[in-house]
Amino acid sequence: MIKNFSVLDDSQIQEYLNNKSLKIGIVGIGRIGLPTALSFANSGFNTVGIDINKKLVDMVNSGNYPLKDEPEFDKIFESVYNNKKITAITDISEVIPDCDVIILSLPTPMDDQNIPDYSALLTVGKNLNQLLSNGQIVIVESTVEPGFIENELLQSIEGHDRTIKSGIDFHLAVCPETANPGEIMNDFKKLPRLVGAIDEKISSIVSQIYKHVFGVELIQLPNCKTANAVKLTTNVFRDVNIAFVNELAILFDKLGIDTYTVINAAKHKYNFQAHFPGPGVGGPCLPVNSYQYLNSSKKIDPDLLKIIQHARKINEKMPDHVIELTSDAFKESNKSIQNSNILILGVSYKPNIKDIQLSPAEHIIRKFQNLGVNIHIYDPYFFSSEVFGIKVEENLDDILPKMDAVIIVTDHHQFKNIEISSFKKMKNPILIDTRGIFDPISVKHNNIIFRGLGRGNF
Ligand SMILES: NC(=O)c1ccc[n+]([C@@H]2O[C@H](COP(=O)([O-])OP(=O)(O)OC[C@H]3O[C@@H](n4cnc5c(N)ncnc54)[C@H](O)[C@@H]3O)[C@@H](O)[C@H]2O)c1
Repeated sequence: MIKNFSVLDDSQIQEYLNNKSLKIGIVGIGRIGLPTALSFANSGFNTVGIDINKKLVDMVNSGNYPLKDEPEFDKIFESVYNNKKITAITDISEVIPDCDVIILSLPTPMDDQNIPDYSALLTVGKNLNQLLSNGQIVIVESTVEPGFIENELLQSIEGHDRTIKSGIDFHLAVCPETANPGEIMNDFKKLPRLVGAIDEKISSIVSQIYKHVFGVELIQLPNCKTANAVKLTTNVFRDVNIAFVNELAILFDKLGIDTYTVINAAKHKYNFQAHFPGPGVGGPCLPVNSYQYLNSSKKIDPDLLKIIQHARKINEKMPDHVIELTSDAFKESNKSIQNSNILILGVSYKPNIKDIQLSPAEHIIRKFQNLGVNIHIYDPYFFSSEVFGIKVEENLDDILPKMDAVIIVTDHHQFKNIEISSFKKMKNPILIDTRGIFDPISVKHNNIIFRGLGRGNF
């Protein structure tokens, strides 16, 4: 029997939590949704993952878990799979009517004009209109701009003629996810969660449920839009600050100042927060979240949030700086960049995960290909696969002698263990480090032509 949360008090909810009699449905079991489903299942709740990706659903149902790059994921997956606490399905209509709590962990990417695309949420919202009826809670974990839940999503669930009503037939809340890929299971256990809802009672019920499952601090915000604004602000703060240090890095490269030395010294000031330069900012969060805020502000005043507009431009131009550093190094070595062979070390948008969403590596590769460079890739997270149409190399020692230059794009921890001298297997070696992995002086002592992004090169 479905629980109608409108009529339950705290002690009844606690009883349902203690005897695990809530059924949980997670719609979208990708990078965030599947670990969330596992956490509920691991707490003892019968959990069903709903996803349009049949291959993913089949994998989960056959015990062949994805996300092999997430630490701790394997143990939890095997445990809940063996205890039969998790199943997956493609057809939303089969399970939602039986779920007490429905969590939406659907993608919120942007289109090629950088306009946020909320179509997955709106499609599922429309489906839910036919499937909810008894006061269930729908919790949106996807990242969206402030106001989207209260306006577009609410309307899509209620239907144009308000065939079902929020506060009666269902309840709408948000709990925007803040975990970091590569550390998700650990972040789930330690990061506070943000909660907002259309009414206050539901906000405290959601907090009670999440406290029970994750055991973390819950930060209750006055409504959904404030909770979503907090989530966006944390990520956009990083995007803007990275743009600031990226711009400093470009200046310092011309002034002969090492950006890392500056930032590491600045860190001693109690109210300075360190961010480091890099070849661009990728992933499904930071760039998208900046554009989500810009989408919100555009509707009010296109001149608002200029700082975010500039930050995006700067971060999106960083691949050009990588090309500039590389061209400069080729000049020093009297080699032509055209028809040269360049090895890209790392294609993920961040270290130690297998994820190329909006990775700056793609822009860097395309720009070099336009200059007639033959690009090769070495990335341990993508062995035996093709990335951006290029087969990934599996043996660094074998490929290095055939290369003219190596460019470190992602600081996977494996790369930190590479002996600098091994780059000397290249003829007239060139090394470009965009992530501050190698000490420029040690590289130069090895007679390698070196350019480090932000290392004060020119
Ligand atoms: N990945 C991150 O680092 C991260 C961190 C915090 C928040 N988020 C946010 O969480 C949300 C989910 O992100 P993710 O990285 O897990 O995305 P993902 O692409 O890994 O997973 C989304 C899943 O939803 C499924 N899906 C798409 N449309 C569907 C539909 N109509 N019905 C059912 N399933 C559908 C997809 O097949 C996919 O498996 C996004 O809003 C994202 O911004 C992501």
